[in-house]
Amino acid sequence: MINQWKLTTACATRPPFLQIILIALTVWLLGLKNASAQSPTNHSLIVHADRGVHKISRHIYGHFAEHLGGCIYGGIWVGPESPIPNTRGIRNDVVAALRKIKVPNIRWPGGCFADEYHWKDGVGPRDQRVPLINTTWGGVVETNQFGTHEFMDFCEQVGAEPYICGNIGSGTVQEMAEWVQYLTSERGNAMAELRKRNGREKPWKVKFWAVGNETWGCGGIMSADHYANEFARYSYFLKNFGDNTLYKVASGGLPQDYVWTETIMKKWSIADGWLQGFMSGYSLHFYAVSDWNKKGSATEFSENEWFTTLSKSLEMEELVRKHTDVMDKYDPQKRIGLIVDEWGNWYDVEPGTNPAFLHQQNSLRDALTTAINLNIFNNHAERVKGANLAQLVNVLQAPILTQGEKMVLTPTYHVFEMYTPHHDATLLPSEMQGEPYAFGDRKLPGVTASASRDEVGAIHVSLCNLNPKRPATVNAEIRNATVKTISGRVLTAHSMTAHNTFDKPETVKPQPFNDARITSHGFTVTMPPMSVVVLRLK
Ligand code: AHR
Repeated sequence: MINQWKLTTACATRPPFLQIILIALTVWLLGLKNASAQSPTNHSLIVHADRGVHKISRHIYGHFAEHLGGCIYGGIWVGPESPIPNTRGIRNDVVAALRKIKVPNIRWPGGCFADEYHWKDGVGPRDQRVPLINTTWGGVVETNQFGTHEFMDFCEQVGAEPYICGNIGSGTVQEMAEWVQYLTSERGNAMAELRKRNGREKPWKVKFWAVGNETWGCGGIMSADHYANEFARYSYFLKNFGDNTLYKVASGGLPQDYVWTETIMKKWSIADGWLQGFMSGYSLHFYAVSDWNKKGSATEFSENEWFTTLSKSLEMEELVRKHTDVMDKYDPQKRIGLIVDEWGNWYDVEPGTNPAFLHQQNSLRDALTTAINLNIFNNHAERVKGANLAQLVNVLQAPILTQGEKMVLTPTYHVFEMYTPHHDATLLPSEMQGEPYAFGDRKLPGVTASASRDEVGAIHVSLCNLNPKRPATVNAEIRNATVKTISGRVLTAHSMTAHNTFDKPETVKPQPFNDARITSHGFTVTMPPMSVVVLRLK
């Protein structure tokens, strides 16, 4: 108190000219600090336009819909009698939004829920379906109104392929084999006849099939050896009917469990010789969470948490590399796809919501981690053949949030939309170098990138500037290609925590990007801080 008084008195008695000089000096110093905060970091990018070999499977842009919280009920299914506009019970607004991002596949019915789901409870007349308690997610009543037919209808409306996760934890080989028959066999068995009685004459096409989910945990708490045998037994009896060929995906272990990967790959290398199609994919799950007891808020966070979440997301690179190394040992021809069928950010639930419903908001931070992950998957197109963001509506890092009849598209949605040109395009290998994003004594790459060439020959370059304070200048050399036109879009906002709400749905949305210039060897851009830019070069 005394010190403060002394200071005030001292200032008051200082001659005015000294005060003016002091103020001017302070203003100048602040200006200098601000200018350096705003000066761009520098990066150089080489895109090898002549080295495109591998296709980026559109299936790495897949999604995941579990019977959890408001994902299925309310988020997708409202029932045919609902005043919310729907087609056969499925929300029209959600379908239209998903069609726009060209969702290639949807994984269903879980997750952990898959291992307590018995598919026969969810077929037949809806008013006769028996409910069950969803013991995994909040003990709520699962009405079974959304079952196999409704899911297949949803996929058809969206234009996505189904990716079904079978119950190995509490199910049987017979139950899973019969589900395959029910869905894909034309005639000649009880399941095909049951399907016809339930109103569907023709079989569906179903390719992607997960043989269990997280079998190290909620899928049965198995050891790798035990699961390898179980996988083999189930896989043997999951048959191909007509021209339907299953792409069977084995459950992976915990994210860093490379021994699990080794065990399954060894099993595959033994079985593959005599049973073709024994296994086509191997699953990896990874959530960007640094402390499961203190996950933090989705929208109220500091730069420290921004940095931590981004740095956690970047760990996907190491996981993909290390699992690929193990897989390469047994499968150097890369016949088995690494399927990252659960990934995303997991925060504390929104205040006042059911903790078991995993309902969280979605900010610009989630947009950046989406771009980080999609760049990683694109760049590993040779091995990563599928991925599914968790989850599609209202749960975890959702691209879509709904509330009654209202719907809002999140920043994550917009990145998926901006990245659609990469679907099934040819990966162009790229190399990025430049100033890191430093926070305290920790450092991350400043900008991440991926590039591809589409079927009409246009090159698409995706860039993500991780630094929330400084713009980034990227000088790109496009090797062995001439750039004549350049256009692009940018996703950014004024604050790290910016997000879309039902009242303000367009706070974060893509805008035209006019800060790109063609150079003699490629292009140069200056990206805003904390932004995602996708460019089209022709
Ligand atoms: O996505 C939520 C849950 O996370 C899934 O049900 C489970 O597979 C994973 O642990």
